[in-house]
Amino acid sequence: MNNQATVSRKLDHIKICLNKDVQAKTKSAGFDDVEFVHRALPESNLANINTKSKLFGHEFSAPIIISAMTGGHPVAEKINKTLAIAAQELGIGLGLGSQRAALENPQLEKTYSIAREYAPEAFLIGNIGAPQLVDGTIELKEAQKVIDIIDGNALAIHLNALQEAIQPEGDSNYSGVIQAIDKLAEELDVPIIIKETGAGISGEIASLLEKTGVAGIDVQGAGGTSFSAVEVYRAEEQGLERLKRFGKVFWDWGLPTVVSTVEVARATSQVEIIASGGIRNGLDIAKAIALGAEGIGIALPLLAPAFSGDVETVKSIIDLLVKELKCAMFLTGARAIKDLKNVPCIISGKSANWLTLRGIDISMYAQRSL
Ligand SMILES: Cc1cc2nc3c(=O)[nH]c(=O)nc-3n(C[C@H](O)[C@H](O)[C@H](O)COP(=O)(O)O)c2cc1C
Repeated sequence: MNNQATVSRKLDHIKICLNKDVQAKTKSAGFDDVEFVHRALPESNLANINTKSKLFGHEFSAPIIISAMTGGHPVAEKINKTLAIAAQELGIGLGLGSQRAALENPQLEKTYSIAREYAPEAFLIGNIGAPQLVDGTIELKEAQKVIDIIDGNALAIHLNALQEAIQPEGDSNYSGVIQAIDKLAEELDVPIIIKETGAGISGEIASLLEKTGVAGIDVQGAGGTSFSAVEVYRAEEQGLERLKRFGKVFWDWGLPTVVSTVEVARATSQVEIIASGGIRNGLDIAKAIALGAEGIGIALPLLAPAFSGDVETVKSIIDLLVKELKCAMFLTGARAIKDLKNVPCIISGKSANWLTLRGIDISMYAQRSL
């Protein structure tokens, strides 16, 4: 694909995500299946609940990352600037969108590097796609360049086999991907985070990934933004009926975020886990951490205000997430983020069914104590 095509496809994605309903339809991320046991005597002061966290060795005021969305276009520059200002002021992390466009055309670097300009201290994550590792477009030199453009703290390699398989211009060759990840993880001197883009990561894949020495796994499960949905709308705009049907069939494909988070947590011991995909409030954040994540990612709810350059709205959405997270911590007796790992929580419904069938004992979550 040429640079113009990469850029215009990314712009299509933004427009569609702003104007259409691109979220999962028949599948939920699973947070409704998870409930905390209310603690009527919290024995703590809500005002003193502490959400400070350390992710990949970096201090966060709360364990929140604005997930990768964009770059490569003047519209993207404004979005990244807005998100960067919010991330800097709030002390949280920010992922940049795929940096392939900047590797193809250095004139587009500014649309990403603007993030570091406005977020000098925030944890910034660079982003490349796994297919570009496989086809050799990105090797150590290019990966280092991606990091240098944003003076990044980590590099996300996104896995998007589903989207690549569906979109007409997709790069659907994933043969040799684990070897390529393994090689880069050995060579690159910033932490690598392997990130799905809507279909989740299973326990089996997580243990393969852990062996490569990557530092983190962002599960990006099903239940939030669906890139099959995005492709359905693109196909519709182009009058491509067969492609539209293809996307519809796979609209809700994947492991829901809750089961993916549990599967990855149970299969690994070294990697830091980010839960993302359909995280929509601070209670979801508390649940994701209780299930084994160290932090969470959120994208779609921030896109519209970022597109309008509205820093205050981005900040107020995140402020509310933190307030809700603190409330969930208070009501479960958790004073610090790490305490959430020990509060009892009940997993029921479809998530329980899935996890039990996969041989995971979910009673330990219900019976543990702080
Ligand atoms: C407009 C848009 C563009 C995205 N572009 C990328 C990308 O370039 N690279 C990537 O790893 N993820 C990308 N994502 C996926 C997000 O990082 C995130 O994982 C996903 O949207 C799930 O979170 P959500 O349900 O809170 O939206 C994009 C998401 C949106 C909404």
